[in-house]
Amino acid sequence: RPRVFSGIQPTADSFHLGNYLGAVRHWVALQETHDAFYCVVDLHAITAGHDPVVLKQRSRVAAAQLFAVGIDPERSTLFVQSQVPEHSQLAWVLGCITGFGEASRMTQFKDKSQKQGSERASVGLFTYPILQAADILLYQANAVPVGEDQRQHLELSRDLAQRFNSLFGPTFTVPAPHIVKDTAKITDLQDPTAKMSKSSSSPAGIIDLLEEPARSAKKIRSAVTDTGREIVFDTETKPGISNLLTIYSALSGRSIDDLVAAYAGKGYGDLKKDLGEVVREFVTPIQERTRAYLDDPAQLDKLLAAGAEKARAVAAPTLRAAYDRIGFFPPV
Ligand code: TYM
Repeated sequence: RPRVFSGIQPTADSFHLGNYLGAVRHWVALQETHDAFYCVVDLHAITAGHDPVVLKQRSRVAAAQLFAVGIDPERSTLFVQSQVPEHSQLAWVLGCITGFGEASRMTQFKDKSQKQGSERASVGLFTYPILQAADILLYQANAVPVGEDQRQHLELSRDLAQRFNSLFGPTFTVPAPHIVKDTAKITDLQDPTAKMSKSSSSPAGIIDLLEEPARSAKKIRSAVTDTGREIVFDTETKPGISNLLTIYSALSGRSIDDLVAAYAGKGYGDLKKDLGEVVREFVTPIQERTRAYLDDPAQLDKLLAAGAEKARAVAAPTLRAAYDRIGFFPPV
């Protein structure tokens, strides 16, 4: 079986629809065909400042949500990054074959550090994509299911794998991005040309999986839509309506064409009202299952510890091989 690896940051109280539709939904599907490793990346989550109590709670909520949407601990390995020390260890090695200029060209770093003020941005934020490469390469992943915003980071992961292999001998699988175009960039409800984002969207622009469905419905009703009144799919001229149609289609399983036909002659308001209902139906059982996992944190932590053990069984031999290739002594 080919292998997949992906990660999500525990930097919010809930995943949003962009995270789910762009990435996590595919994680669930890929369990059927792939040997799957999924990670709550708490090491990444401390690159821009954090509160320890909040972080730990968010890591648990993230894991609970992943189980609730269908990640099956019997078939997939779901774990928290900080429980597998090999991630930091490999990141150091990869950092030493990454060019300073190369890392400086990462657009997410440029955006985020600019927002924080370049003097205040941490070195961890700068080396973030190198840690991400370590995550992926440790598991010899063939494919990495992510949204469009991660494409450049995956390009770096590929470059680092190839570079290490040619400097020190074949060690790492070169991973391919798995980006499903239709839902690779869910946009902000208030600014349909920008991506829906935990860190930069306003609350009104985001639909969280764990928020009150009535609140989601209200946000959808106030979503910025386009001039004209016809419901058609065109991301250039009608980014707002197209985003709503994309979400509607992905959550309901109905094709965009089918939806456009069904709403011919109807108004934006009808579409928005119905989408609010689709979201409610979709999130309600997920919210219930998430709560059930969170009601028993000891059991949740046990599932995660078992995941970390399975992850280490794969990560440790990879790190050992890399250490050997570069002239380090084996870990004792
Ligand atoms: P993160 O936590 O920001 O997002 C998790 C996943 O959600 C996708 N995503 C979106 N997809 C479509 N539309 C959107 N509006 C949207 N917003 C977010 C992201 O592309 C991502 O797939 N650096 C990663 C975490 C990471 C990782 C890894 C991923 C760390 N190590 C190794 C893959 C492999 C991140 O910040 O994701």
